[in-house]
Amino acid sequence: MIKKAVLPVAGLGTRFLPATKASPKEMLPILDKPIIQYAVEEAQRVGIEDFLFITGKHKRAIEDHFDKAYELEERLKSAGKLQLLEKINCFENLNFAYIRQKQPKGLGDAILYAKPFVNNEPFVVILSDDVIDPEYSVLSDMIEIYNRTHSTVIALEEVPWSDVSRYGIVAGKKVEDYYLIEDLIEKPEQSQSPSNLAIIGRYILTPQIFKYLGKLEPGKGGEIQLTDALKMLLNETQIYGYIIKGKRYDAGEKLGYLKTIFEFALKDSEIASDFKAFLKERITNL
Ligand code: G1P
Repeated sequence: MIKKAVLPVAGLGTRFLPATKASPKEMLPILDKPIIQYAVEEAQRVGIEDFLFITGKHKRAIEDHFDKAYELEERLKSAGKLQLLEKINCFENLNFAYIRQKQPKGLGDAILYAKPFVNNEPFVVILSDDVIDPEYSVLSDMIEIYNRTHSTVIALEEVPWSDVSRYGIVAGKKVEDYYLIEDLIEKPEQSQSPSNLAIIGRYILTPQIFKYLGKLEPGKGGEIQLTDALKMLLNETQIYGYIIKGKRYDAGEKLGYLKTIFEFALKDSEIASDFKAFLKERITNL
């Protein structure tokens, strides 16, 4: 059983400045929930109970969000607002731990902070910028592959060639429902890219990764890259890639964030029909 999830949330969120000057980008809402809550709920649905957030400056709001809010709960209770009470009370059975990354040295460096928490068990890494349609669970498919192979599993998606320089890219061989990874490269130039198969922010890692993360020199962008550690891990073991079947949204940049909100609004039972009517009217007036 995989019981632990690591959520790196130390990024500065510069694409959303000034909104992210004093508050975390992970707390930007998609309708009525912050982005980070979708990540936690996604992990919760596959039975994960222990969460470690790798945080940085200005990330306190994330801790507060997952904390118990006694005063608010009392107020909602006495006002008889039980549905709202349920909405803020859904993390009771989960455990949250937080550790600060000392310097912004990249995703690979952030994951290294999880070593004591992981305690020699496999774990999930979720990059919350990648929001995946909650109707589908890529983690449950990935865990199924992990249970068969006991090896690292990474989520993949075919992206337009013009976008390869925004992702970690893999080369691999398709076998049954997964890819056997043969090479990985962080954010290559389009002309250097071995494929258009991009790494999406869901990983099942084993403690083997720490050995390599600890040895890495800075890579792309002068940062310690998880992709580079995975490439080194290939010398020791197989890595499996799994193409995500659900829709994935990049809520880490403005247009992607807006698209995510639109898609969620179109599925929201409370506002979908009014929102559709608004959109239809608005489009005719473009
Ligand atoms: C990170 C990883 C990259 C991966 C991407 C997925 O990059 O380094 O390999 O493709 O997440 O979202 P970031 O988007 O944090 O720059």
